[in-house]
Amino acid sequence: MKGIVLAGGLGTRLFPLTKITNKHLLPVYDKPMIYYPIQTLVDAGIREIMIVTGGNNAGDFLKLLGNGSEFGLKHLNFTYQSSEGGIAEAVGLCEYFSEGQKVVIILGDNILEKSIKDDVARFKKQKDGAMIFLKKVNNPGEYGIAEVKSGKVVNIIEKPKKPKSDLAVIGVYMYDNRVFEIVRTLKPSKRGELEITDVNNAYIGAGSMSYSILKGRWADAGESIDAYNDTINFVRKYRKNSRQSFGKFNGGG
Ligand code: G1P
Repeated sequence: MKGIVLAGGLGTRLFPLTKITNKHLLPVYDKPMIYYPIQTLVDAGIREIMIVTGGNNAGDFLKLLGNGSEFGLKHLNFTYQSSEGGIAEAVGLCEYFSEGQKVVIILGDNILEKSIKDDVARFKKQKDGAMIFLKKVNNPGEYGIAEVKSGKVVNIIEKPKKPKSDLAVIGVYMYDNRVFEIVRTLKPSKRGELEITDVNNAYIGAGSMSYSILKGRWADAGESIDAYNDTINFVRKYRKNSRQSFGKFNGGG
């Protein structure tokens, strides 16, 4: 199974912090933001990782991450998203890299407290289809929100005005290789992007979507300036209270 970290976009919600740099290069406590999602993939046993970046600072990722040796990797792959085409468009750029395998995708501003190793192992055994992670939130209007009936996700609505639940679809997605076919069928949304929620709804429509309720804290550091600051405080507090947080690299055991 291959890993993909999405680190493009203009980060306008964190402006002016993102005026001269990419959001995913901003510090979260003592590490650049992108270190956390990379570590999450590495902790889940993923060794082949693609970084999709974009905007004006693409070269800085290479300088920062090099060949991934800080994470115990032999190699890192990089590609470039030249337009603001959305998460699903960025995924589409990784078809060649995927070599027909399943993929686990993580948004570069999503920071998880606990390992997803067991869920990744479960998805490896799942015959085909997709798996997402859900987490209860207080501000459902800001996320993709899942409606769950009789233990199945029946629908996801992107940033709903009248949310049907408080279960956000977090920015970690596992797909079989059919995801690339699905991306080719998508049309841009009102915000002019190919939406990952449309990919997920296609899997739901095909009856091949499973889900896991995420254990531990989830932070979407790029959601707003307050979310960014809350994330820094959470990482700092957690690091001080626990020797097991955020994997080996991030200061744990
Ligand atoms: C994206 C997805 C949304 C998801 C969120 C998680 O939102 O579109 O469904 O809940 O990431 O971080 P965006 O950050 O593009 O607004």
